[in-house]
Amino acid sequence: MWCCFSIFFAVVASAAIAVKIYVKLTTKWNNSYTSLVGKTGIVTGANNGIGFYTALDFAKRGGRVILACRNRDRAEDAVRRIIKATGNKNVLYKLVDFASLQSVRDFAADINKNEERIDILVNNAGLMVGTEDYTKDGIQTVLHVNHISPFLLTHLLIDKLKKSAPSRIVNVSSSVANNATLSAKNIDKINSISHKFFNFAMYSDSKLCNILFTTELAKRLAETGVTVNALHPGVIYTNFLNSTSGILKDIFSFVIKYFFLTSEEGAQTQIYLSVSNDVANVSGGFFDKCKQIEIYQTAQDPDLAAKVWEKSEEYAKLSNNEKIPYF
Ligand SMILES: NC(=O)c1ccc[n+]([C@@H]2O[C@H](COP(=O)([O-])OP(=O)(O)OC[C@H]3O[C@@H](n4cnc5c(N)ncnc54)[C@H](OP(=O)(O)O)[C@@H]3O)[C@@H](O)[C@H]2O)c1
Repeated sequence: MWCCFSIFFAVVASAAIAVKIYVKLTTKWNNSYTSLVGKTGIVTGANNGIGFYTALDFAKRGGRVILACRNRDRAEDAVRRIIKATGNKNVLYKLVDFASLQSVRDFAADINKNEERIDILVNNAGLMVGTEDYTKDGIQTVLHVNHISPFLLTHLLIDKLKKSAPSRIVNVSSSVANNATLSAKNIDKINSISHKFFNFAMYSDSKLCNILFTTELAKRLAETGVTVNALHPGVIYTNFLNSTSGILKDIFSFVIKYFFLTSEEGAQTQIYLSVSNDVANVSGGFFDKCKQIEIYQTAQDPDLAAKVWEKSEEYAKLSNNEKIPYF
């Protein structure tokens, strides 16, 4: 009995160590030395996780860095830590709640009025499960925070991004988009609620929308000097699972914490897309481990992309002159 248990334990431990070694060996680090002196980067959801390490990296490069966060205390703490670590005092936060269309509009108006330029916009803020099913704008919370708000924010900042060109938009998606079930045929379910398995279906659909938004936006921004790319950052131990609960959360948290990426490692692909010269002229691409990969089948349907765009314009309540036409 003890012998069987020991063998089982040895096999599990060896497999776990093998996974850890594989993850560490295949982690890619952005190795670009690009300076951001004189440039401004906005990182949403930057008080924590991979957004924090992205903002920290921009600050190390000498840029003006704006952390777009919803909680004043957490934002202040993040700014303090970045300034302490880098000595760059040109780091600040502005409050924005991505679960509110009005809050995104107020944030964008502030940026448009007070900032001379935007060189990099990293749409990073996201969550897996909302505390409420629908926001007060009537949009399913996960879809609202993960897709509709970045969609709206990008539209409201696009003129400034164009004036600052060459400039970059980076959309943080996920490999779970590969499992999304949203399609051109069932587009009407885009704002419906599913409570299956940690609401994974809703989360996957929202991350698919990030990729569809990216590929469609790239076509509309052709020749403007503004590039847009999306990425999967990896599986990372962050606060991300805090919005879930139950035994599965504990199991996932344990496995991810000990066997997958740290936040700093997980931030590398979005830093690469934000600063590397390798991708200065790449737009509409999807990246993983600092490398362009083929866009998932689920995100390759132009009919779905057009329908998601149309629905997103509707939910974001864009006026005609705020819409981004084809070039
Ligand atoms: N972790 C992973 O394994 C993984 C894998 C694939 C993709 N991603 C993506 O990576 C991105 C960053 O996630 P993370 O892993 O770094 O998680 P995280 O540590 O939880 O960071 C998420 C950030 O988004 C912010 N946020 C959430 N709701 C918001 C709202 N309503 N308004 C404004 N900000 C809001 C959070 O603010 P608070 O601190 O105030 O909550 C936090 O700063 C997300 O888009 C996620 O989908 C993560």
